[in-house]
Amino acid sequence: MKVTVIGTGYVGLVSGTCLAEVGNDVLCLDVDAEKIRILEEGGVPIFEPGLQEMVRRNVAAGRLHFTTDVQRAVDHGTIQFIAVGTPPDEDGSADLKYVLAAARNIGRLMTDFKVVVDKSTVPVGTGAKVKAAIADELQKRGVEVPYSVVSNPEFLKEGAAVEDFMRPDRVVIGAEDEQAIFLMRALYAPFQRNHERLIVTDVKSAELTKYAANAMLATRISFMNELANLAEKLGADIEMVRQGIGSDPRIGYHFLYPGCGYGGSCFPKDVKALIKTAADDAGLGLKVLRAVEEANDAQKHVLTEKLKASFGDLAGRHFAVWGLAFKPNTDDMREAPSRELIADLFAAGATVTAYDPVAMDEAKRIFGDDARLRFAASPREALRDADALVIVTEWKEFRSPDFDAIKSDLKQPLIFDGRNLYDPKFVRGMGIDYFAIGR
Ligand SMILES: NC(=O)c1ccc[n+]([C@@H]2O[C@H](COP(=O)([O-])OP(=O)(O)OC[C@H]3O[C@@H](n4cnc5c(N)ncnc54)[C@H](O)[C@@H]3O)[C@@H](O)[C@H]2O)c1
Repeated sequence: MKVTVIGTGYVGLVSGTCLAEVGNDVLCLDVDAEKIRILEEGGVPIFEPGLQEMVRRNVAAGRLHFTTDVQRAVDHGTIQFIAVGTPPDEDGSADLKYVLAAARNIGRLMTDFKVVVDKSTVPVGTGAKVKAAIADELQKRGVEVPYSVVSNPEFLKEGAAVEDFMRPDRVVIGAEDEQAIFLMRALYAPFQRNHERLIVTDVKSAELTKYAANAMLATRISFMNELANLAEKLGADIEMVRQGIGSDPRIGYHFLYPGCGYGGSCFPKDVKALIKTAADDAGLGLKVLRAVEEANDAQKHVLTEKLKASFGDLAGRHFAVWGLAFKPNTDDMREAPSRELIADLFAAGATVTAYDPVAMDEAKRIFGDDARLRFAASPREALRDADALVIVTEWKEFRSPDFDAIKSDLKQPLIFDGRNLYDPKFVRGMGIDYFAIGR
């Protein structure tokens, strides 16, 4: 099939590449000329395991192309995926300007039947807005061209995005007409050879499903974070509690890890957007989600509080920070807890040497040339002259470090672990003071 993907970011590039991998003829469009230049020269502008090889393979096979040419993109695909960003507007609602700009481009230039697929995470009712925007452009041109608007929210996880797209748990298709459903079924058939994973719904239900999934996951995390804070005060160990409740199949082990707050490009903005949709479009206050958000905002400062409780005044202190990305296996730092921690430390007069296996370039872009933040070439190098080690992201390479080196390189043997990576007894047995979350 001929497929156009509008927006070549984490979702658009992974989706486009995986669709090419199974044989489709895919053209990825972006307004960011630099991104397209990197891709055309054989590079990949983001870090995502397995993506680079897959991009190369499909470009070489002639199935995957990149462009900034809107006319070419609209002409190319019978299926037009919209995978542009939907960042939070000032009031927390999802900003639809990129989605609607993409839709208008399609309406302005299309000459034959198109299935326009919303893959971006968009509030309930956006499908109708996309449909109206296209209709409006067609009307301005005085032409009638058939099209269908479908909602196909994306559930891939950064860090495992290729694997998630190639082997999805489910594919949700919100559509109202049979021809569009038929085409979407055919497009996704290669990704579900083992059993049917397609769930066909109406457009609004598909749109809400995406928010419901992220809101549920964010709720689990905030719930565990609050319980961890409680466990700490009561002298219980949240890790034991986690195992005790996770073993109940009604609860399960996934997303029960307490830590220093959730971040990323999705949970924070999607929780905000759902609260806003509920208030504006339904007159409902989502009390649980408001608490989830409040708890998470507080949790992002939990490491700072522990540092202050231990050191008192942080002015003049220097800290080693391991991990900048909002989670392992990505270079994405959108809403990352590391950003709040580093900002807190700067505000308190402290300095930082940070190490992250892939996100340091992104951190340099975010923090600019700030003398208070240095970068180390290895985890060990970051420890030098630091008053303590603070762990923010659970990269695999931090899981079994050389504790003797940590002890000898730090000014005093102190670890503040925002991801509960180690066994407290073991680390304390090594003569290191260890502060984790809820233990
Ligand atoms: N990142 C994730 O893990 C993830 C997972 C599921 C869903 N989503 C959703 O998918 C959407 C995209 O997220 P992302 O992380 O890929 O964003 P991103 O910022 O990485 O990529 C968006 C891209 O769209 C481009 N763009 C903007 N307007 C355009 C236009 N009119 N024409 C062509 N290109 C345009 C931008 O230049 C950018 O490259 C969001 O709605 C997000 O909530 C993201």
